[in-house]
Amino acid sequence: MTSTLAHTPQPPSRLPQVGTTIFTVMSALAAEHGAVNLGQGFPDFDGDPRLIDAVAQAMREGLNQYPPMVGVPHLRDAISAKLAALYGRRYDPATEITVTAGATQGILTAVLSVVGPGDEVIVLEPCYDSYVPNIQLAGGTPVRVALKAGTFRPDFDAISAAITPRTRAIITNSPHNPSATIWRAADLQALADLLRGTEIVLISDEVYEHMVYDGEAHASVCAHEALAARAFVISSFGKTYHVTGWKIGHVVAPASLMAEFRKVHQFNVFTVNTPMQHGLARYMSDPVPYYSLPAFYQRKRDLFRNGLAGTRFRLLPSEGSYFQCVDYSAISSLPEVDFCRWLTTEIGVAAIPLSAFYEDQRNQGLARFCFAKKDETLTSALDRLARL
Ligand SMILES: Cc1ncc(COP(=O)(O)O)c(C=O)c1O
Repeated sequence: MTSTLAHTPQPPSRLPQVGTTIFTVMSALAAEHGAVNLGQGFPDFDGDPRLIDAVAQAMREGLNQYPPMVGVPHLRDAISAKLAALYGRRYDPATEITVTAGATQGILTAVLSVVGPGDEVIVLEPCYDSYVPNIQLAGGTPVRVALKAGTFRPDFDAISAAITPRTRAIITNSPHNPSATIWRAADLQALADLLRGTEIVLISDEVYEHMVYDGEAHASVCAHEALAARAFVISSFGKTYHVTGWKIGHVVAPASLMAEFRKVHQFNVFTVNTPMQHGLARYMSDPVPYYSLPAFYQRKRDLFRNGLAGTRFRLLPSEGSYFQCVDYSAISSLPEVDFCRWLTTEIGVAAIPLSAFYEDQRNQGLARFCFAKKDETLTSALDRLARL
């Protein structure tokens, strides 16, 4: 019997176009078919036991109540020292650094703090799936500019053409998910030249900052004076320390931008869990874990690439991040989503179609694998992919 007293209101959806993501779909399919899951971007190995001990110790020391709103001072000091050492810019821990519940919250909070109705925000497609809904939640309009087909390099003419008097911000991401390309100093300079004289804010997603290969250095916006002056720069401890489930990261920005950021942060998360902040602050004093990350992941990248060399996959460059994209057009003419489903159910390896990162879901015959996996996971995936 239906009660007339019970009524669930159905307000108009704030994000009507958002459904179940391809990551969830592919992971479920992988589990159902016993496939090796190289789809979702997270390690299948654990973080350093010393980091886990440092967090557990902080909990046992009773560091379990609300920390300061912007993050525990030790951790902000450690972040400041690290950025100064790596990128030569000293962010003031008191006014320019905030600890966030992962990069995801950092990006959303940056968007909410500067974007409002009527504002346009440029995103470079393909892009991480939270950017566009973040802009829409803020009431802004996403303006999509494609990275160059084939190379995924930024198209500065197209970016320039997309800038209007209503452009409030641009979101960039290097090392890049999903294409595994990196921006170099010349790219940052080209962007700085475009933004000079405008009021456009830069939101720079650098969660893979420590995963840059072949001896190259990460070109951080923090190291570029003109861009840093107009930028929120976002990083993720989850990515750097193999603990993606901890959801902890940080955002840095000049004090005036950070003041606005903190107004939103105060009311959308208020604080980030205390013991992990203390544990990370202690663990970060040793730079070896992040200095050794490029070699650690480059070896996995090469193991995976070498394993695919005998197949008909065409390997795209993997300059950074923990992704390897492949062109499968010599193997199949299926659209990307169908190919990835087939790969999962018939070959037993899950991958993500690149079309998932474009609003128009375009098909280019490309799929993304994540190689942040144990060697045996990669070997087992390679055994299955060998027959392609
Ligand atoms: C480009 C990019 N930005 C942000 C994130 C989210 O980072 P976090 O887990 O710290 O929220 C991810 C995670 O996959 C990512 O790939």
